[in-house]
Amino acid sequence: MRLQSVIGQFTALNIVLLSVSAQSAQQLIDAVLNPFPNLTHYSSYSSAIYFNYTLYNQTPIAPTNYDKLEASAKNILPPHAYDYAAGGVGLEKTVDANRQAFDHWQILPRVMRPVLPARNLSRVIFNRTLPAPIVMAPIGVQTLFHPDGERATSKVFGEHGLPYTLSTATSTGFADVAASNGDGNPRWYQLYWPSDDDLTRSYLRTAQANGYEVLVVTVDTWDLGWRTRDLDRGYFPFIQSIGVQIGLEDPVAHEKLGFNALATNATAEQKQMAALYHVITTSRGVSPVWENLWKLREIWGDKPIVLKGVQSVEDAELAVKWGLDGIIVSNHGGRQIDGAVGSLSTLPDIVEAVKGKLTVGFDGGIRTGADIFKALALGADFVQLGRPILWGLAHEGDKGVRHVLKSLLAEFELTIGLSGCQSLEEVTRDLVTVTKVFQRLYTVFN
Ligand SMILES: Cc1cc2nc3c(=O)[nH]c(=O)nc-3n(C[C@H](O)[C@H](O)[C@H](O)COP(=O)(O)O)c2cc1C
Repeated sequence: MRLQSVIGQFTALNIVLLSVSAQSAQQLIDAVLNPFPNLTHYSSYSSAIYFNYTLYNQTPIAPTNYDKLEASAKNILPPHAYDYAAGGVGLEKTVDANRQAFDHWQILPRVMRPVLPARNLSRVIFNRTLPAPIVMAPIGVQTLFHPDGERATSKVFGEHGLPYTLSTATSTGFADVAASNGDGNPRWYQLYWPSDDDLTRSYLRTAQANGYEVLVVTVDTWDLGWRTRDLDRGYFPFIQSIGVQIGLEDPVAHEKLGFNALATNATAEQKQMAALYHVITTSRGVSPVWENLWKLREIWGDKPIVLKGVQSVEDAELAVKWGLDGIIVSNHGGRQIDGAVGSLSTLPDIVEAVKGKLTVGFDGGIRTGADIFKALALGADFVQLGRPILWGLAHEGDKGVRHVLKSLLAEFELTIGLSGCQSLEEVTRDLVTVTKVFQRLYTVFN
């Protein structure tokens, strides 16, 4: 049975459902909502929401509109936690630019094409067939937003078979996140490249031993940007030992420090010293350089290495030259340089220069399923979700994350279908167009 006809029969079904027990009603709903059990069918989440209200008087755990979702998370979170995530650097012009870049592009849908309810959103990324090209962006300090932190987010991405990227600034260690993420699921590790090669080797070996299979090297945050919201309250989570777990657990760090800060007899001073040691060694204040990439390759072997934080065509071309497997077009969510270019604005030229030579990921400002569509239509091979997932996390941990991820997937799948596409391969550049006012500006200036 097709989803359209399911929706059409909503009223009739409703009457039937009200007369049966809750358990059999649930079975009926499952059968109706998932008529093709072998195919992923994300957009049925909207029907699930309508049915849940009709049957159980339940509305979703968090708003489906992004602005309302963020406002709701702001109400839940302590102000320092909300500001840590929402904020950018300086006047936050780059945070704004990331969003404005999405407004420069509009979707140009096609109609009267044969589109079926079950659409193929799968794509092969780094030798894995993913159900959709959607990845959790590396985000540190997640216990700031809910006590379950990375355990909750990694669990939900694992449930969906979508890659989960663990940050070097995680508040939960490699093994615990691997356990909550689940055996066999795609796990990536994001490195803040330590100044000490022994630590680098140790982190990467522990990552591989715990099944992290793609190395994401963040190259735009070797020093912390001017984060005005945090500066105004003097808030730096790492000093409070949030986001330093990898350092605290690392055996080489124990050797170098001469103690294990997680041991039962460790003093408060030792714990603070170990936390600071992790911050100082991973936020080195000295830029990493292309010439040293061989050191990572030597440890990581032939598994994929990706640079995160590329914004220029020149750097994308250098990444090809230096043998990287991928890049992530990103400006760290506007958290490093104020007044920088919106990330999506840089994507088309980078894609044109390096498409096919390495894998191109994208993040910065994705808030809706339609945004995912635009980034993929402009040539990204995959996209990363950042702040929306954190706002979900604030809503009861994994429950909120699940709701936000399912909502984004549902809207993405609906946008694909309603734009006349049956699969990702049909989501091409001709389905997005530069907003008219910008077209006029281009004409004036060229
Ligand atoms: C609270 C917070 C923490 C972050 N931590 C990291 C991190 O540890 N490593 C990293 O590479 N990027 C980090 N990022 C950047 C994200 O990976 C991603 O580039 C950014 O969130 C994309 O912007 P968006 O969330 O506005 O879409 C962080 C972002 C936020 C909001």
